Amino acid sequence: MKILMVCLGNICRSPLAEGIMQHLAKENGLDWHIDSAGTGNWHIGEGPDRRSIRTAREYGIDISGQVCRLFKVSDFDDFDQIFVMDGNNFGDILALARNEEDTKKVKLLLGDKIVPDPYHDDTEFEPVFKLIEAGCREIIKQHS
Ligand code: 4NP
Repeated sequence: MKILMVCLGNICRSPLAEGIMQHLAKENGLDWHIDSAGTGNWHIGEGPDRRSIRTAREYGIDISGQVCRLFKVSDFDDFDQIFVMDGNNFGDILALARNEEDTKKVKLLLGDKIVPDPYHDDTEFEPVFKLIEAGCREIIKQHS
């Protein structure tokens, strides 16, 4: 299974989602390919936000080597599932979908809830980590 995690900046939430999902897939013996991307272009080429790196590290996950990139239309071909964090990401990605097959790949990570953007609030990184972890565990559960 190939999974792409998407948020706005690709420096706070989706890098956490990529790292957590990679960690859990490995833990569960699943040979999954996980990547992440953003819908906004401000941070292309940068590493994840230091607060995301620090939070992940506290849970034994190293995301420091990730590099921010922009979502591209060919991601619809390269991934089986595209998980977005909030309604804005959902709308932005769906606007790029070329057909029904693309559209069907796009889902909110938490199903019916959003992962809020922690960028402007240092205290949100830990709760956001927990939300993303719960979402990733649910996906693993559904596929094993
Ligand atoms: P993310 O958070 O979408 O979780 O990576 C953000 C990071 C940067 C910005 C917005 C959200 N920004 O406007 O630069």
